[in-house]
Amino acid sequence: MNTTDSSQLEGDIYLPAPAITANAHIQEYDNLYQRSIADPQGFWADRANELEWFKKWDQVLDDSNPPFYQWFVGGRTNIVYNAIDRHLKTWRKNKLALIWEGEPGDVRTFSYFALNREVCKFSNVLRSMGVKQGDIVTIYMPRIPEQVIAMLACAKIGASHSVVYGGFSVEALAERIQDAQSRVLITADGGWLRGKTVALKQIADEAIARQATIESVIVIKRTGQEVRMEAGRDYWYHDLMALPIANPFCCTDELDAEHPLFVLYTSGTTGRPKGILHTHGGYMVYTYTTLKYVFDIKDDDRYWCAADPGWITGHSYIVYAPLLNGATMFLYEGAPSYPYPNRWWQMVEKYGITILYTAPTAIRGLMRFGDAWAKRHDLSSLRLLGSVGEPINPEAWRWYYSVIGRERCPIMDTWWQTETGGFMISPLPITPLKPGSATRPLFGIEADVVNDQGQPVPAGEEGYLVIKKPWPGMLRTILKDPERYKTQYWSKFGNMYLAGDSARKDKDGYIWVIGRIDDVIKVSGYRLGTAEVESALVSHPAVAEAAAIGLPHDLKGHAIYTYVILRAGHEKSEKLAEELRNHVAHEMGPIAKPEQITFMDSLPKTRSGKIMRRVLKARALGMPEGDISTLEE
Ligand code: PRX
Repeated sequence: MNTTDSSQLEGDIYLPAPAITANAHIQEYDNLYQRSIADPQGFWADRANELEWFKKWDQVLDDSNPPFYQWFVGGRTNIVYNAIDRHLKTWRKNKLALIWEGEPGDVRTFSYFALNREVCKFSNVLRSMGVKQGDIVTIYMPRIPEQVIAMLACAKIGASHSVVYGGFSVEALAERIQDAQSRVLITADGGWLRGKTVALKQIADEAIARQATIESVIVIKRTGQEVRMEAGRDYWYHDLMALPIANPFCCTDELDAEHPLFVLYTSGTTGRPKGILHTHGGYMVYTYTTLKYVFDIKDDDRYWCAADPGWITGHSYIVYAPLLNGATMFLYEGAPSYPYPNRWWQMVEKYGITILYTAPTAIRGLMRFGDAWAKRHDLSSLRLLGSVGEPINPEAWRWYYSVIGRERCPIMDTWWQTETGGFMISPLPITPLKPGSATRPLFGIEADVVNDQGQPVPAGEEGYLVIKKPWPGMLRTILKDPERYKTQYWSKFGNMYLAGDSARKDKDGYIWVIGRIDDVIKVSGYRLGTAEVESALVSHPAVAEAAAIGLPHDLKGHAIYTYVILRAGHEKSEKLAEELRNHVAHEMGPIAKPEQITFMDSLPKTRSGKIMRRVLKARALGMPEGDISTLEE
């Protein structure tokens, strides 16, 4: 049992029910945590030994060139070998790997055997199109099985994927294609969302017109809507998969543990999105272990992570970790409240979902429709719930716990990032919970809250969230920009990883993440950079200068507010404000659409010309402006 004496804990404590903890993989935290910190390499080697390797590693961790750490050096593997191939040798061959439901209600299922067949066929198609190790293939798709298949097919042959979230739009897609220098793009005619189709192919065409690197486009027919197909460049997926080259036998490439697996772009403090690079070996061991321990994956689970495969949550905990654990996962294409606010609960009941992992924004969004929608459904199959993406407010936590979990299911509030690859701070099913806290660091993770000098702050005080030692799932670099990797994450405190979040630790050692301390805005849990929104705005001919900030929002957590200086000859008007909001949505995607545009004659700037977003924020919230000695308006 858990050695934490819950009677000693302070605050509002929720103890997991004995029925949940009885058979959990992990029965005890404190001792195992201490051991994992005393000997992290031993701990991770044991975890890696649960998986299969073509050749075992010579060295668990190479830390000779920090912060360019390498894991399982000399080992040979392929994440797809462990995610699919190894299960084919067992009874899991005929187990369901994926159950998928489209928004219109169509259902498709894939056993491990069937998933392997599709992946092999598509790997052969990609190979025949000249895709090889070292290439980066861009994937821009709705939430359909082929998205998962495409990612796995790339990994199987040692190509990297760069998945661009299907909710992003023209410029966001174009700049990611360009940075990755992708020659092949995999997309779809469209996808279903709230009863309408999204014009993915059309957006892709516009993006390709801005970036000349794409030579071939593979298009999945999902909605059947009319799309333009360019001869010699665009190919239908179903046509390619019917050719003899789409052979259902394909060897999984044997790769170095440090071979790149994927690039995933995410917003940072300044400038363009950064291509976060993850590799096969360490990421495989890390995502496999964290999902197994935190969501306590068992063979009879039906696990549903309701994120999009286009974000890190989907990469790690839809595509890779569930398959590595031989689990059955569920994937749903559409919106949570379509056609009615009980859509999710209907599917939990219909498929007997045992684990549901989602984001606070989705919980708040469903909560606002009232309890009745959930209460009409039998949700007794649920065993564990999860939350990710932003701090969960206690009100939403309690609703999730009582109305969805029926006071039986503990909530795993998992703190982590695109950069960390997997969960870092999270409860386990045995952990006494405090609503709003991600609780304590997982095994092998030394997390702390420090002041400007890098010293731990006293309990209850706010500080920087840092990770003191490398871990296998960590990013290896920023694509083509190792310097930025070094300065952004590892330079402030010497050799500690700077997460970019502020947090505090309470007397019990529980960590409470407060939010970003940089220019990243979390809108509905999606990570956006102020700089990206600003550059989308100034790409409009009427805009001379723009500033974007995030302000608190009941549903979205934060929403984007923008301040715009117009070019001479343009008049401020409601109509222009609306046009600018739509322009941002067209360039970046609907999630980036500003809540409000305020026209300004000047912006608060430092003498060196940097926009002081902190001052704009303070003014909007009616708060003190803080140190404004460098302000020159
Ligand atoms: O601010 C933290 C917040 O999300 C950021 C990472 O965003 P992204 O790379 O898009 O990854 C999101 C999914 C892993 C973090 O820096 N965040 C994520 N999870 C939590 C969280 N904040 C509080 N509590 C969480 N559980």
